[in-house]
Amino acid sequence: MAAAAATERGVSTARVGAFRLQEERRYLAARPKSRALAGGDARGYYAGVPLHWMLDWPLPFPMVVADAEGATLTDIDGHLLADFCLGDTGSMFGHSPAPVVRAIAAQAGHGLAYMLPTEHALAVGRLLVERFRLPHWQVATTASDANRFALRVARAVTGRPKVLIMNGCYHGAVDETYISLENGQPGNRPGLIGQFVDLTSATRVVEFNDVAALERELAAGDVACVITEPVLTNCCMVLPDPGYHDALRAITRATGTLLLIDETHTISTGPAGYSGAYGLEPDIFVLGKPIAGGVPASAWGFTDAIAARWDRIRREKAPGHSGLGTTLSANALAMATMHATLGEVMTAEAYGHMEVLAKRLAAGLNGTIAGNALPWHVARVGARVEFICAPGPLRNGTEAAAAHAPALEQAIHIGLLNRGCLIAPFHNMMLLCPATAASQVDQLVAAFADVVAGLVG
Ligand SMILES: Cc1ncc(COP(=O)(O)O)c(C=O)c1O
Repeated sequence: MAAAAATERGVSTARVGAFRLQEERRYLAARPKSRALAGGDARGYYAGVPLHWMLDWPLPFPMVVADAEGATLTDIDGHLLADFCLGDTGSMFGHSPAPVVRAIAAQAGHGLAYMLPTEHALAVGRLLVERFRLPHWQVATTASDANRFALRVARAVTGRPKVLIMNGCYHGAVDETYISLENGQPGNRPGLIGQFVDLTSATRVVEFNDVAALERELAAGDVACVITEPVLTNCCMVLPDPGYHDALRAITRATGTLLLIDETHTISTGPAGYSGAYGLEPDIFVLGKPIAGGVPASAWGFTDAIAARWDRIRREKAPGHSGLGTTLSANALAMATMHATLGEVMTAEAYGHMEVLAKRLAAGLNGTIAGNALPWHVARVGARVEFICAPGPLRNGTEAAAAHAPALEQAIHIGLLNRGCLIAPFHNMMLLCPATAASQVDQLVAAFADVVAGLVG
Protein backbone atom coordinates (compact mmCIF):
# COMPACT_ATOMS: atom_id res chain seq x y z
CA MET A 1 0.00 0.00 0.00
CA ALA A 2 1.41 3.44 -0.91
CA ALA A 3 2.32 5.70 2.04
CA ALA A 4 0.10 8.77 2.47
CA ALA A 5 1.69 11.83 0.83
CA ALA A 6 3.31 14.22 3.36
CA THR A 7 1.35 17.41 3.90
CA GLU A 8 2.19 20.52 5.85
CA ARG A 9 -0.40 23.16 6.74
CA GLY A 10 -2.92 21.56 4.44
CA VAL A 11 -0.62 21.42 1.40
CA SER A 12 1.41 18.52 0.00
CA THR A 13 5.11 19.15 0.59
CA ALA A 14 5.96 17.60 -2.78
CA ARG A 15 3.57 20.01 -4.41
CA VAL A 16 5.18 22.97 -2.62
CA GLY A 17 8.60 21.91 -3.92
CA ALA A 18 7.37 21.47 -7.49
CA PHE A 19 5.49 24.77 -7.42
CA ARG A 20 8.55 26.65 -6.12
CA LEU A 21 10.72 25.15 -8.88
CA GLN A 22 8.22 26.11 -11.55
CA GLU A 23 7.99 29.67 -10.18
CA GLU A 24 11.78 30.01 -9.94
CA ARG A 25 12.11 29.04 -13.60
CA ARG A 26 9.52 31.60 -14.52
CA TYR A 27 11.32 34.30 -12.51
CA LEU A 28 14.66 33.40 -14.12
CA ALA A 29 13.29 33.48 -17.64
CA ALA A 30 11.58 36.84 -17.14
CA ARG A 31 14.56 38.74 -15.73
CA PRO A 32 17.66 38.54 -17.93
CA LYS A 33 18.84 42.04 -17.00
CA SER A 34 18.53 41.55 -13.24
CA ARG A 35 20.24 38.21 -13.63
CA ALA A 36 23.15 39.72 -15.57
CA LEU A 37 23.65 42.45 -12.97
CA ALA A 38 22.87 40.74 -9.70
CA GLY A 39 22.80 37.04 -10.54
CA GLY A 40 26.51 36.33 -10.53
CA ASP A 41 29.09 37.66 -8.16
CA ALA A 42 28.12 41.33 -8.40
CA ARG A 43 31.51 42.97 -7.96
CA GLY A 44 32.29 45.15 -5.02
CA TYR A 45 29.76 43.98 -2.49
CA TYR A 46 30.16 41.27 0.06
CA ALA A 47 27.58 38.62 -0.94
CA GLY A 48 26.75 40.72 -4.01
CA VAL A 49 24.43 43.30 -2.39
CA PRO A 50 25.00 46.49 -0.40
CA LEU A 51 22.92 45.19 2.53
CA HIS A 52 22.83 41.44 3.14
CA TRP A 53 19.08 41.63 3.99
CA MET A 54 18.52 42.03 0.25
CA LEU A 55 19.28 38.32 -0.01
CA ASP A 56 16.37 37.46 2.26
CA TRP A 57 13.89 37.53 -0.62
CA PRO A 58 13.12 33.96 -1.67
CA LEU A 59 14.44 34.62 -5.17
CA PRO A 60 17.20 32.96 -7.22
CA PHE A 61 18.86 36.40 -7.43
CA PRO A 62 17.76 39.88 -6.33
CA MET A 63 15.44 41.83 -8.57
CA VAL A 64 17.10 45.12 -9.54
CA VAL A 65 14.78 48.12 -9.24
CA ALA A 66 14.54 50.79 -11.93
CA ASP A 67 11.82 52.97 -10.48
CA ALA A 68 9.22 53.23 -7.74
CA GLU A 69 6.30 55.60 -7.51
CA GLY A 70 3.25 55.49 -5.26
CA ALA A 71 2.48 51.80 -4.80
CA THR A 72 4.12 50.62 -8.00
CA LEU A 73 7.65 49.38 -8.48
CA THR A 74 9.32 48.72 -11.84
CA ASP A 75 12.31 46.43 -12.23
CA ILE A 76 15.05 46.83 -14.84
CA ASP A 77 13.44 44.10 -16.96
CA GLY A 78 10.36 46.29 -17.32
CA HIS A 79 8.00 44.41 -14.97
CA LEU A 80 5.49 46.55 -13.10
CA LEU A 81 4.75 45.29 -9.59
CA ALA A 82 2.00 46.25 -7.17
CA ASP A 83 4.17 46.93 -4.13
CA PHE A 84 2.74 45.72 -0.80
CA CYS A 85 6.19 45.51 0.80
CA LEU A 86 6.83 49.24 0.59
CA GLY A 87 10.43 48.90 1.69
CA ASP A 88 9.32 46.83 4.70
CA THR A 89 7.57 49.96 6.05
CA GLY A 90 10.24 52.50 5.05
CA SER A 91 7.84 53.71 2.35
CA MET A 92 4.60 52.94 4.15
CA PHE A 93 3.06 56.15 2.80
CA GLY A 94 4.03 55.31 -0.77
CA HIS A 95 7.16 55.79 -2.84
CA SER A 96 8.15 59.42 -3.28
CA PRO A 97 4.96 61.12 -2.05
CA ALA A 98 4.67 64.52 -3.77
CA PRO A 99 5.09 66.63 -0.58
CA VAL A 100 8.29 64.73 0.27
CA VAL A 101 9.66 65.16 -3.25
CA ARG A 102 8.95 68.89 -3.01
CA ALA A 103 10.63 69.07 0.40
CA ILE A 104 13.75 67.29 -0.88
CA ALA A 105 13.96 69.60 -3.88
CA ALA A 106 13.43 72.71 -1.76
CA GLN A 107 16.07 71.72 0.78
CA ALA A 108 18.59 70.38 -1.72
CA GLY A 109 20.21 73.72 -2.51
CA HIS A 110 20.30 74.96 1.09
CA GLY A 111 22.62 72.51 2.79
CA LEU A 112 21.82 69.06 4.05
CA ALA A 113 23.53 68.69 7.42
CA TYR A 114 24.85 71.39 9.74
CA MET A 115 24.04 70.22 13.27
CA LEU A 116 21.82 73.17 13.97
CA PRO A 117 18.02 73.28 13.93
CA THR A 118 16.04 74.65 11.01
CA GLU A 119 12.56 76.11 10.97
CA HIS A 120 11.37 72.72 9.71
CA ALA A 121 12.92 71.06 12.74
CA LEU A 122 11.11 73.39 15.11
CA ALA A 123 7.80 72.87 13.32
CA VAL A 124 8.26 69.09 13.55
CA GLY A 125 8.68 69.31 17.33
CA ARG A 126 5.28 71.00 17.59
CA LEU A 127 3.66 68.45 15.27
CA LEU A 128 5.04 65.50 17.25
CA VAL A 129 3.68 66.89 20.53
CA GLU A 130 0.25 67.59 19.01
CA ARG A 131 -0.07 64.22 17.34
CA PHE A 132 1.41 61.83 19.89
CA ARG A 133 0.61 63.68 23.12
CA LEU A 134 4.05 63.45 24.70
CA PRO A 135 5.77 66.73 25.62
CA HIS A 136 9.44 66.01 24.85
CA TRP A 137 11.07 64.65 21.69
CA GLN A 138 14.45 63.77 20.25
CA VAL A 139 15.26 62.81 16.69
CA ALA A 140 17.56 59.98 15.61
CA THR A 141 18.33 58.40 12.26
CA THR A 142 16.90 54.89 12.61
CA ALA A 143 14.35 53.23 14.85
CA SER A 144 17.18 51.03 16.12
CA ASP A 145 18.98 54.14 17.32
CA ALA A 146 15.84 55.67 18.82
CA ASN A 147 15.21 52.51 20.83
CA ARG A 148 18.85 52.27 21.89
CA PHE A 149 18.93 55.88 23.09
CA ALA A 150 15.55 55.64 24.80
CA LEU A 151 16.60 52.53 26.73
CA ARG A 152 19.82 54.22 27.79
CA VAL A 153 17.85 57.17 29.15
CA ALA A 154 15.37 54.81 30.82
CA ARG A 155 18.21 53.12 32.69
CA ALA A 156 19.74 56.47 33.62
CA VAL A 157 16.56 58.04 35.01
CA THR A 158 15.41 54.95 36.93
CA GLY A 159 18.87 53.92 38.13
CA ARG A 160 17.90 50.34 37.24
CA PRO A 161 20.06 48.05 35.12
CA LYS A 162 17.65 45.84 33.17
CA VAL A 163 15.11 45.98 30.40
CA LEU A 164 12.26 43.57 29.74
CA ILE A 165 11.26 42.41 26.28
CA MET A 166 8.59 40.18 24.78
CA ASN A 167 9.66 36.83 23.36
CA GLY A 168 9.74 36.99 19.56
CA CYS A 169 10.08 40.78 19.48
CA TYR A 170 12.22 42.88 17.15
CA HIS A 171 13.24 46.44 17.86
CA GLY A 172 16.16 46.80 15.46
CA ALA A 173 19.86 46.28 16.04
CA VAL A 174 19.66 46.87 19.80
CA ASP A 175 21.75 44.32 21.69
CA GLU A 176 19.61 44.34 24.85
CA THR A 177 16.64 43.09 22.84
CA TYR A 178 18.40 40.06 21.35
CA ILE A 179 17.32 37.37 23.74
CA SER A 180 14.57 34.84 23.30
CA LEU A 181 13.00 31.90 25.04
CA GLU A 182 14.19 28.57 23.66
CA ASN A 183 12.18 25.76 25.24
CA GLY A 184 11.16 28.24 27.92
CA GLN A 185 14.76 29.20 28.76
CA PRO A 186 16.08 32.73 28.12
CA GLY A 187 19.31 33.04 26.14
CA ASN A 188 21.00 35.05 23.39
CA ARG A 189 19.08 34.73 20.12
CA PRO A 190 20.57 31.86 18.13
CA GLY A 191 21.16 33.99 15.01
CA LEU A 192 22.89 36.91 16.77
CA ILE A 193 26.37 37.53 15.41
CA GLY A 194 29.44 38.60 17.35
CA GLN A 195 27.92 38.95 20.80
CA PHE A 196 29.96 37.25 23.49
CA VAL A 197 28.14 38.72 26.47
CA ASP A 198 25.28 36.72 27.94
CA LEU A 199 22.54 39.26 27.33
CA THR A 200 20.30 37.74 29.98
CA SER A 201 22.45 39.70 32.44
CA ALA A 202 20.85 42.87 31.01
CA THR A 203 17.47 41.65 29.86
CA ARG A 204 14.46 39.68 31.03
CA VAL A 205 12.04 38.11 28.60
CA VAL A 206 8.40 37.11 28.95
CA GLU A 207 5.75 35.91 26.54
CA PHE A 208 3.40 38.56 25.16
CA ASN A 209 -0.09 38.29 26.72
CA ASP A 210 1.30 36.60 29.85
CA VAL A 211 0.30 38.89 32.72
CA ALA A 212 1.49 36.55 35.48
CA ALA A 213 5.00 36.37 33.95
CA LEU A 214 5.11 40.13 33.71
CA GLU A 215 4.20 40.47 37.40
CA ARG A 216 6.82 37.91 38.34
CA GLU A 217 9.66 39.45 36.30
CA LEU A 218 9.00 43.03 37.36
CA ALA A 219 8.54 42.25 41.04
CA ALA A 220 12.25 42.55 41.90
CA GLY A 221 12.23 46.23 40.90
CA ASP A 222 15.42 46.01 38.83
CA VAL A 223 13.85 46.59 35.41
CA ALA A 224 14.16 50.13 34.08
CA CYS A 225 11.85 49.71 31.13
CA VAL A 226 9.53 47.33 29.33
CA ILE A 227 9.95 47.71 25.58
CA THR A 228 7.25 46.29 23.34
CA GLU A 229 5.32 46.77 20.17
CA PRO A 230 1.61 47.10 20.97
CA VAL A 231 1.01 44.25 18.51
CA LEU A 232 3.91 41.90 17.77
CA THR A 233 4.56 42.41 14.06
CA ASN A 234 8.03 40.98 13.72
CA CYS A 235 7.07 37.37 14.14
CA CYS A 236 3.81 36.06 12.76
CA MET A 237 1.44 38.78 13.94
CA VAL A 238 0.27 38.53 17.57
CA LEU A 239 -2.56 40.76 18.75
CA PRO A 240 -3.00 41.68 22.42
CA ASP A 241 -5.65 39.87 24.46
CA PRO A 242 -8.48 42.14 25.62
CA GLY A 243 -7.20 43.97 28.71
CA TYR A 244 -3.54 43.04 28.17
CA HIS A 245 -2.37 46.61 27.62
CA ASP A 246 -4.29 47.79 30.71
CA ALA A 247 -2.55 45.11 32.77
CA LEU A 248 0.84 45.97 31.26
CA ARG A 249 0.38 49.63 32.13
CA ALA A 250 -0.91 48.91 35.65
CA ILE A 251 1.95 46.52 36.48
CA THR A 252 4.66 48.78 35.07
CA ARG A 253 3.26 51.73 37.04
CA ALA A 254 2.95 49.69 40.24
CA THR A 255 6.59 48.57 40.01
CA GLY A 256 8.05 51.94 38.96
CA THR A 257 9.00 50.51 35.55
CA LEU A 258 8.90 52.71 32.45
CA LEU A 259 6.91 51.57 29.43
CA LEU A 260 8.34 52.09 25.95
CA ILE A 261 5.89 51.46 23.12
CA ASP A 262 7.68 51.00 19.80
CA GLU A 263 5.28 52.04 17.02
CA THR A 264 7.71 51.74 14.14
CA HIS A 265 5.41 49.21 12.46
CA THR A 266 2.07 49.79 14.21
CA ILE A 267 1.93 53.37 12.99
CA SER A 268 -0.09 51.48 10.36
CA THR A 269 -3.03 51.68 12.81
CA GLY A 270 -3.89 55.36 12.50
CA PRO A 271 -2.49 58.91 12.52
CA ALA A 272 -1.36 58.62 16.17
CA GLY A 273 -0.43 54.95 15.97
CA TYR A 274 -1.92 52.11 17.97
CA SER A 275 -1.39 54.10 21.17
CA GLY A 276 -3.49 56.95 19.85
CA ALA A 277 -6.22 54.66 18.56
CA TYR A 278 -6.48 52.53 21.70
CA GLY A 279 -5.62 55.08 24.40
CA LEU A 280 -2.30 53.57 25.54
CA GLU A 281 -0.20 55.77 27.82
CA PRO A 282 3.46 54.98 27.21
CA ASP A 283 6.23 56.81 29.06
CA ILE A 284 8.35 56.60 25.93
CA PHE A 285 7.11 56.37 22.36
CA VAL A 286 9.30 55.36 19.43
CA LEU A 287 8.63 56.00 15.78
CA GLY A 288 10.88 55.31 12.81
CA LYS A 289 11.07 54.07 9.24
CA PRO A 290 8.35 55.94 7.26
CA ILE A 291 8.17 59.20 9.19
CA ALA A 292 10.36 61.12 6.75
CA GLY A 293 8.88 59.49 3.65
CA GLY A 294 11.83 57.11 3.16
CA VAL A 295 14.62 59.50 4.13
CA PRO A 296 16.32 58.00 7.22
CA ALA A 297 14.84 59.48 10.40
CA SER A 298 13.25 58.40 13.66
CA ALA A 299 11.86 60.11 16.73
CA TRP A 300 11.32 59.25 20.35
CA GLY A 301 9.08 61.09 22.75
CA PHE A 302 8.82 60.99 26.53
CA THR A 303 7.03 62.40 29.56
CA ASP A 304 7.68 65.43 31.76
CA ALA A 305 8.72 63.11 34.59
CA ILE A 306 11.48 61.55 32.48
CA ALA A 307 12.60 64.96 31.23
CA ALA A 308 12.86 66.30 34.80
CA ARG A 309 14.95 63.34 35.93
CA TRP A 310 17.13 63.55 32.83
CA ASP A 311 17.69 67.27 33.50
CA ARG A 312 19.08 66.42 36.93
CA ILE A 313 21.38 63.76 35.48
CA ARG A 314 22.69 66.13 32.80
CA ARG A 315 23.52 68.70 35.45
CA GLU A 316 25.46 66.14 37.48
CA LYS A 317 27.32 64.29 34.71
CA ALA A 318 30.54 65.33 33.02
CA PRO A 319 29.69 66.80 29.59
CA GLY A 320 30.15 64.97 26.28
CA HIS A 321 30.20 61.31 25.19
CA SER A 322 26.73 60.55 26.53
CA GLY A 323 26.21 57.62 24.19
CA LEU A 324 23.16 59.41 22.79
CA GLY A 325 22.94 60.76 19.27
CA THR A 326 24.77 60.35 15.96
CA THR A 327 26.24 63.05 13.72
CA LEU A 328 23.68 63.01 10.94
CA SER A 329 20.63 62.72 13.18
CA ALA A 330 18.06 65.51 12.79
CA ASN A 331 19.89 66.82 9.74
CA ALA A 332 18.23 69.48 7.63
CA LEU A 333 17.05 67.07 4.92
CA ALA A 334 15.55 64.64 7.44
CA MET A 335 13.71 67.44 9.20
CA ALA A 336 12.35 68.93 5.97
CA THR A 337 11.04 65.56 4.83
CA MET A 338 9.67 64.68 8.27
CA HIS A 339 7.82 67.98 8.28
CA ALA A 340 6.30 67.19 4.89
CA THR A 341 5.38 63.64 5.93
CA LEU A 342 3.79 64.54 9.27
CA GLY A 343 2.12 67.66 7.90
CA GLU A 344 0.87 66.56 4.49
CA VAL A 345 1.20 62.79 4.01
CA MET A 346 0.19 61.03 7.25
CA THR A 347 -3.29 62.54 7.16
CA ALA A 348 -6.56 61.14 8.53
CA GLU A 349 -7.82 60.96 4.96
CA ALA A 350 -4.83 58.86 3.87
CA TYR A 351 -5.37 56.48 6.78
CA GLY A 352 -9.07 56.22 5.90
CA HIS A 353 -8.17 55.02 2.41
CA MET A 354 -5.56 52.57 3.74
CA GLU A 355 -8.01 51.10 6.26
CA VAL A 356 -10.71 50.49 3.63
CA LEU A 357 -8.23 48.71 1.37
CA ALA A 358 -6.75 46.69 4.24
CA LYS A 359 -10.22 45.36 5.07
CA ARG A 360 -10.80 44.54 1.42
CA LEU A 361 -7.49 42.67 1.24
CA ALA A 362 -8.10 40.75 4.48
CA ALA A 363 -11.59 39.73 3.30
CA GLY A 364 -10.24 38.58 -0.07
CA LEU A 365 -7.47 36.48 1.47
CA ASN A 366 -9.86 35.01 4.02
CA GLY A 367 -12.19 34.05 1.16
CA THR A 368 -9.47 31.97 -0.50
CA ILE A 369 -8.40 30.37 2.78
CA ALA A 370 -11.98 29.43 3.68
CA GLY A 371 -12.79 28.34 0.12
CA ASN A 372 -9.92 25.83 0.24
CA ALA A 373 -10.57 24.83 3.86
CA LEU A 374 -6.94 25.61 4.72
CA PRO A 375 -5.85 25.74 8.38
CA TRP A 376 -4.52 29.30 7.89
CA HIS A 377 -5.66 32.71 9.08
CA VAL A 378 -5.30 36.45 8.42
CA ALA A 379 -4.26 39.03 11.04
CA ARG A 380 -4.34 42.79 10.67
CA VAL A 381 -3.34 45.95 12.49
CA GLY A 382 -4.72 48.86 10.49
CA ALA A 383 -3.03 49.02 7.09
CA ARG A 384 -0.74 46.08 7.87
CA VAL A 385 -2.18 42.71 6.88
CA GLU A 386 -0.63 39.28 7.19
CA PHE A 387 -1.66 35.80 6.12
CA ILE A 388 -0.32 33.08 8.38
CA CYS A 389 -0.15 29.49 7.19
CA ALA A 390 -1.31 28.14 10.55
CA PRO A 391 -4.48 28.37 12.65
CA GLY A 392 -4.94 31.49 14.76
CA PRO A 393 -5.15 33.78 16.54
CA LEU A 394 -1.62 33.47 17.89
CA ARG A 395 -1.04 34.53 21.48
CA ASN A 396 2.72 34.84 21.88
CA GLY A 397 6.17 34.63 20.32
CA THR A 398 6.53 30.89 20.82
CA GLU A 399 3.25 30.22 19.01
CA ALA A 400 4.29 32.71 16.32
CA ALA A 401 7.61 30.95 15.75
CA ALA A 402 5.83 27.60 15.44
CA ALA A 403 3.35 29.11 12.96
CA HIS A 404 6.05 29.83 10.40
CA ALA A 405 6.19 27.47 7.43
CA PRO A 406 9.30 28.70 5.56
CA ALA A 407 9.19 26.43 2.50
CA LEU A 408 5.50 27.05 1.91
CA GLU A 409 5.79 30.79 2.53
CA GLN A 410 8.73 31.12 0.13
CA ALA A 411 6.83 29.31 -2.60
CA ILE A 412 3.88 31.67 -2.11
CA HIS A 413 6.12 34.77 -2.15
CA ILE A 414 7.73 33.94 -5.48
CA GLY A 415 4.36 32.86 -6.90
CA LEU A 416 2.87 36.24 -5.96
CA LEU A 417 5.85 38.09 -7.43
CA ASN A 418 5.46 36.27 -10.74
CA ARG A 419 1.82 37.43 -10.70
CA GLY A 420 2.85 41.07 -10.27
CA CYS A 421 2.59 41.46 -6.49
CA LEU A 422 5.49 42.12 -4.12
CA ILE A 423 5.05 41.37 -0.42
CA ALA A 424 7.59 41.77 2.41
CA PRO A 425 10.33 39.13 2.46
CA PHE A 426 10.11 38.77 6.24
CA HIS A 427 6.99 36.73 7.06
CA ASN A 428 3.87 37.41 5.00
CA MET A 429 3.39 41.09 5.60
CA MET A 430 1.45 43.35 3.24
CA LEU A 431 1.09 47.09 3.58
CA LEU A 432 -1.47 49.40 2.01
CA CYS A 433 -0.42 52.98 1.31
CA PRO A 434 -2.32 56.13 0.33
CA ALA A 435 -1.43 55.51 -3.31
CA THR A 436 -2.53 51.85 -3.37
CA ALA A 437 -5.43 51.36 -5.78
CA ALA A 438 -8.36 49.04 -5.14
CA SER A 439 -7.44 47.34 -8.42
CA GLN A 440 -4.00 46.49 -6.97
CA VAL A 441 -5.65 44.92 -3.94
CA ASP A 442 -7.90 42.89 -6.24
CA GLN A 443 -4.82 41.87 -8.22
CA LEU A 444 -3.17 40.58 -5.03
CA VAL A 445 -6.32 38.75 -3.94
CA ALA A 446 -6.54 37.09 -7.38
CA ALA A 447 -2.82 36.26 -7.36
CA PHE A 448 -3.14 34.69 -3.91
CA ALA A 449 -6.11 32.61 -5.09
CA ASP A 450 -4.17 31.47 -8.16
CA VAL A 451 -1.08 30.57 -6.12
CA VAL A 452 -3.18 28.63 -3.61
CA ALA A 453 -4.89 26.83 -6.49
CA GLY A 454 -1.44 25.90 -7.82
CA LEU A 455 -0.45 24.60 -4.40
CA VAL A 456 -3.53 22.63 -3.45
CA GLY A 457 -4.18 21.31 -6.96
C1 LIG B 1 9.17 47.51 15.75
C2 LIG B 1 10.47 47.86 15.15
N1 LIG B 1 11.31 48.66 15.81
C3 LIG B 1 12.50 49.01 15.30
C4 LIG B 1 12.90 48.55 14.08
C5 LIG B 1 14.24 48.95 13.54
O1 LIG B 1 14.11 49.82 12.46
P1 LIG B 1 15.42 50.26 11.65
O2 LIG B 1 15.86 49.04 10.90
O3 LIG B 1 14.91 51.33 10.74
O4 LIG B 1 16.42 50.72 12.62
C6 LIG B 1 12.08 47.71 13.35
C7 LIG B 1 12.48 47.19 12.04
O5 LIG B 1 11.84 46.37 11.44
C8 LIG B 1 10.82 47.37 13.89
O6 LIG B 1 9.99 46.57 13.25
